[in-house]
Amino acid sequence: MNAPSNMLEQIQSDALESLAAASDESVIQEIQTHFLGRKGVLTHFLRNISDLPKEVRPEAGKSANVLKKKLETAFHNALSDIQTAKQDQEPGIDITLPGRPVSCGAFHPLTLMNQEICDVFKQLGFEIVEGPEVELDYYNFEALNIPKDHPARDMQDTFYISDNVVLRTHTSPLQIRTMEKRKPPVRIIAPGKVYRCDSDITHTPMFQQIEGLLVDKNIHFGHLKGILTTFVHHIFDEQTLLRFRPSFFPFTEPSAEVDIQCVMCRGDGCRVCSQTGWLEILGAGMVHPAVFENVHYDTDQYTGFAFGMGIERIAMLKYGIDDLRKFYDNDIRFLNQF
Ligand code: PHE
Repeated sequence: MNAPSNMLEQIQSDALESLAAASDESVIQEIQTHFLGRKGVLTHFLRNISDLPKEVRPEAGKSANVLKKKLETAFHNALSDIQTAKQDQEPGIDITLPGRPVSCGAFHPLTLMNQEICDVFKQLGFEIVEGPEVELDYYNFEALNIPKDHPARDMQDTFYISDNVVLRTHTSPLQIRTMEKRKPPVRIIAPGKVYRCDSDITHTPMFQQIEGLLVDKNIHFGHLKGILTTFVHHIFDEQTLLRFRPSFFPFTEPSAEVDIQCVMCRGDGCRVCSQTGWLEILGAGMVHPAVFENVHYDTDQYTGFAFGMGIERIAMLKYGIDDLRKFYDNDIRFLNQF
């Protein structure tokens, strides 16, 4: 055995012995400096290898570097063992406890319903438009063929801001606002909040509607039936039957109320459909010529249809919810179910 290897063995056993006896971080760091620091024993050995006889230099260099790695690992392990032991002893932290669940936000069921309905119409080529909730009497009523003294104003309990400004009672003003700005053809849907002075289990003072309007040459009632049938089949299912009942709206002629076959009893009659087998889901009709005249559309060339539905109503039917107000109570146990 030659002298350099003896020296290295000595360094190794000294280092490992003192490390084994060390029990705190600062002592370990001191030992590390003593052996591996800039003026450390092993560093000194490595630096002076060139003074050794030529034949032992390569071997000595190699062994010294191996030892350096070995000691570095030993110091590193010793330090991290001490840190782990310290963490385990830290009072108040029990690392065996299960983690706290991170709760994650989600869209409101009505937002989901709105998106779902809009998606169906987008696929049918409709564009989404939006408008103000505080609306001029002109757009909410007058231009829709509902003059001030018209009895149809009684159908909607209006919140008045002033004589000529209201909270919109439906999304139909978007028909006028859109047609004023564009030439036909027009194919839009307008989702948004609307307001009526009304509150019970099927009415809230604020609710949401989606309006639809399609104007072009040669549009007839068959197109309206086709579009609404496609819509109902997407939102409910392909078997759901539709029924068009004659009705009245000042801005459409002829007008219809559209029912779907009861989603609960499939038409047999139950509590939800009041034993009729049918559920009303929306109002619709062919755009009244008076409305076209108000936006200067040529009634000889163009015809169109419009429809309007309540988003809450569709969501209630789709999810079997019997109280509309639940959507707005913000009870997390209700909202979590969607
Ligand atoms: N605006 C009507 C309502 O809120 C619904 C409707 C829209 C009817 C378009 C016909 C055409 O009751």
